[in-house]
Amino acid sequence: MQLILAPMQGLVDDVMRDLLTRIGGYDECVSEFVRITHTVHSRSTWLKYAPEIANGNKTPAGTPCAVQLLGSDADNMAVNALEAVRFGADKIDLNFGCPAPTVNKHKGGAVLLKEPDLIHHIVKTLRQRLPEHIPLTGKMRLGYEDKSLALECAAAIAEGGACALTVHARTKVEGYEPPAHWEWIRKIREHVAIPVTANGDVFSLKDYIGIKEMTGCNSVMLGRGAVIRPDLARQIKQYENGEAVRDTDFAEVSVWINQFFHLCLAKEANNKYPVARLKQWLGMMKKEFGEAQELFDAVRAVKDAEEVARILAAFEDKMNA
Ligand SMILES: Cc1cc2nc3c(=O)[nH]c(=O)nc-3n(C[C@H](O)[C@H](O)[C@H](O)COP(=O)(O)O)c2cc1C
Repeated sequence: MQLILAPMQGLVDDVMRDLLTRIGGYDECVSEFVRITHTVHSRSTWLKYAPEIANGNKTPAGTPCAVQLLGSDADNMAVNALEAVRFGADKIDLNFGCPAPTVNKHKGGAVLLKEPDLIHHIVKTLRQRLPEHIPLTGKMRLGYEDKSLALECAAAIAEGGACALTVHARTKVEGYEPPAHWEWIRKIREHVAIPVTANGDVFSLKDYIGIKEMTGCNSVMLGRGAVIRPDLARQIKQYENGEAVRDTDFAEVSVWINQFFHLCLAKEANNKYPVARLKQWLGMMKKEFGEAQELFDAVRAVKDAEEVARILAAFEDKMNA
């Protein structure tokens, strides 16, 4: 079984990838999407989105990290992908699922699901230009407005030369509304000759067992659930290994929160980035953990990073007393 940490722009940046892969359970992760328009990105841009490139394409915990590209200009995407490879990237993923209006307006992400021929052209162009040893993968939703082209789009990605495909089981217009249509992942898996990773609405071990059963996939990608429950992948791996599944208590989570904040501070020692990232994470975790709500309330109005660090340290001490 493969467990993959989902790319999530603005949420799972290199710091979150670092933390979550340290906690464990992941076999792979993917960078936030790097948007390709008319320019060719510099080394610093690639390293900004995927600092793992400079670490042998691994997070500090040693989990492999692919670089995700988003765009529709096949030639320029190929030029950029080759640049990323020149700077050290060793796996490229293509985004055919982003629902953001600005991205879709410029013909990127989910809007391409209306044009399977263009998807095929993009994948084929990149496959032909990239060195053979660089794996190329794709990630798609089920469609834009409806699912009528889902199988065609999946086939376009597979026949274009991708070696694996991740399916987020919703259309663009379905946004993030539950339910995710896992039965469509099975249809796609049965339709294409490449391995399919199942994705959408896995928030618990029970969901994981459900998606695996419904789709028959040997690979599952965790998105929001990975952030809300930072030990979700670890629990799943414990289950898969036949070990006792340990429900993490918040004392351990409070250590991770503190660690995350200090990793954010080490990346950008201003007040804004670490404080905003912490509040974003607590805002998501408070749905799952009452203690996260308490901590969220304690830092909600605080803007100064040093003050936040003091609150976090005191909270961790209290939880672990
Ligand atoms: C905040 C946010 C940012 C996302 N950014 C990306 C992205 O950069 N690339 C991508 O392929 N998918 C992106 N996604 C989609 C996720 O990778 C995933 O497919 C989706 O959240 C469904 O999985 P989940 O139900 O486990 O969250 C994003 C999702 C969220 C919520």
